[in-house]
Amino acid sequence: MISRRTWVPLAAIGFAKTLRAQKELTVAGKKPLLVLNDFPEDLETPAEYFDRWITPNDVFFVRQHLPRPKMDPSSYRLEISGMVGSPVQLSLEELRKLPQTTVVATLECAGNGRSYYRPRMPGLPWSKGAIGNAEWRGPRISDLLKKAGGVASGAQYGTFDGADVGLAQTPDFIRSVPVRKLLHPATILALEMNGEPLPELHGFPARLVVPGWDGASWVKWVTKIVLSEKPDSGFYMATAYKYPRRLTPPGVPPRPEEMESIEGMAVKSFFTKPAREAKFKLGPVLLQGVAWAGEHRVLRVEVSVDGGASWRQARLSPQNLPFAWRLWSFEWTPRAPGYYLACVRATDSAGRTQPIEAPWNPSGYLWNSIERIGLLVEA
Ligand code: MTE
Repeated sequence: MISRRTWVPLAAIGFAKTLRAQKELTVAGKKPLLVLNDFPEDLETPAEYFDRWITPNDVFFVRQHLPRPKMDPSSYRLEISGMVGSPVQLSLEELRKLPQTTVVATLECAGNGRSYYRPRMPGLPWSKGAIGNAEWRGPRISDLLKKAGGVASGAQYGTFDGADVGLAQTPDFIRSVPVRKLLHPATILALEMNGEPLPELHGFPARLVVPGWDGASWVKWVTKIVLSEKPDSGFYMATAYKYPRRLTPPGVPPRPEEMESIEGMAVKSFFTKPAREAKFKLGPVLLQGVAWAGEHRVLRVEVSVDGGASWRQARLSPQNLPFAWRLWSFEWTPRAPGYYLACVRATDSAGRTQPIEAPWNPSGYLWNSIERIGLLVEA
């Protein structure tokens, strides 16, 4: 049983078409999640599930532009072609026989937090939960490319196509990733997620894992990799998932030539507990949350309980891996009853700190404003 938000779905392109009533939806393999779209399912993870370092598969958010394909593991083939030494086709068995690498990495949709931007824009109205941290396992893309005789000189991009197919109003989902990122030892074709074969919703039998990059690069149900000089010219590279090189005032779209494909993600933190506008009796309160920094490391998380006038350092969980989020906690003992504005901000190893307000951009990507929540302390 899943509760549905009142304001709903947008296709990959286009504006909201309908306002639908509250509805419940059961999705195999998933606990109740927030439903942004019921077909194909787009599901958001409620913040209370982010109370642990690894996000379990049954609460991991789902984003799919097109109905997911039915995959048959016995006939599955991955085709690698284009600017490689010798094109190959690999079966699932052959992929499993290659050396397997484990990477813990946070996956976040570029549009996570879109619902907070003003003026609003088209696109799924995610709150905080289009994000999760999982352990991914599978062969390195660099090993797959070796199997195909290596990357020919001049090849700059690998273009990934999943088995999902385009529909009349929604183009086929195809994404390109620069070869420099594909050859990174942490970029893998995951066959497993949190120790299980990839769930169907998350790309069974094989998905691209591009640690530190936006979720759109993490192509699911991968069947084709084509090496070439240029990125794909389709919708998801030429138009979508782009961010302005120079910012414009809110509501003013930049010129298309000012837009660049998103690569690494922003530095970001948020509260997982307590909930916005929670009430407490006077006494110690534990504030908790997560923080991550795309391709960089989270160095520091600070909390303010006076609306950002003063800041104190939060405690970070011991895990300190590139590409994976960290949990933070802050013990707070309010001195007096009253209404408090709690804020959290992270700083990363590249010297980036969260802004007061994430810059408006036409598709509502990379939301990372300092989160502010009101808390009421009663006598
Ligand atoms: N891969 C395919 N083949 N089709 C898709 O629609 N959506 C992408 C990416 N990979 C997509 C895809 C987007 S936008 C995101 S945010 C992630 O998958 C979401 O991954 P998840 O559903 O496993 O959480």
